[in-house]
Amino acid sequence: MTESGTRLIFRTTGKPADVLELEDFTPREPEAGEVLVRMVAAPLNPADLNTVEGTYGVKPELPATPGIEGFGVVEDSGAEGFSEGEAVIFLKRSATWATHTTVPADTLFKLPAGIDPLQAAMLKVNPATAWRLLRGFGLVEDGEWIVQNAGNSAVGRCVIQLARDFGIRTVSFVRRPELVAELEALGADAVFTDDDAGRAAAKELLGGAKAALGFNAVGGDSALGLLKLL
Ligand SMILES: NC(=O)c1ccc[n+]([C@@H]2O[C@H](COP(=O)([O-])OP(=O)(O)OC[C@H]3O[C@@H](n4cnc5c(N)ncnc54)[C@H](OP(=O)(O)O)[C@@H]3O)[C@@H](O)[C@H]2O)c1
Repeated sequence: MTESGTRLIFRTTGKPADVLELEDFTPREPEAGEVLVRMVAAPLNPADLNTVEGTYGVKPELPATPGIEGFGVVEDSGAEGFSEGEAVIFLKRSATWATHTTVPADTLFKLPAGIDPLQAAMLKVNPATAWRLLRGFGLVEDGEWIVQNAGNSAVGRCVIQLARDFGIRTVSFVRRPELVAELEALGADAVFTDDDAGRAAAKELLGGAKAALGFNAVGGDSALGLLKLL
């Protein structure tokens, strides 16, 4: 039985550095249909930070432990089909910023043993979002262009890699030129700085062709620049 754990908790919304507290707690033993998971890795997604700030669409019941995804190992199971030591990720918000979390078994997804914990911990949110961006609108064909800003974001990197595999060509804008080579190595077709010079270079590359889709995570002039390439 797990005696003690540690978790991050917030009792009021606000700037994460101000409102998050680290506390010891006793992980809850799983009831029938539940699984106690020992956390191995959990990312900090913008949606996590927005939740703590109180600016996300879904408002948590307070106090709350953040963490919408992550990777862990089954420590104790009250559910059929889940055994100690099995590797799992979470399909729903699961208070993953903790050493342990107890969740319904039907919110878990089993993964093969030996999977890279850091890759597995970020398997749900960003790759699925990139997939939906590229395939969810039905507007982009193989060989066409998509354009995106924040090209080096976790979502942007997934977009680049999936697009490469789908045969869709990508123009990615970044605000730091030192990232260009890194994104090209991931399979980006073109990476430009997110400024007037970069936008002019993208327009020239497209040579009059219109990008099928634009993915904006920045707003303002950056978003306007994407719109002009559509
Ligand atoms: N299903 C969904 O709806 C869904 C799922 C996942 C993500 N998202 C959204 O997708 C976006 C990217 O998420 P992520 O997790 O991939 O983010 P991330 O890895 O944290 O990357 C953040 C990106 O935003 C850029 N950035 C930050 N502040 C900026 C500013 N003031 N001006 C211009 N660029 C700025 C960063 O550039 P630097 O590296 O240069 O700082 C970086 O490229 C977020 O808006 C997130 O909320 C939505």
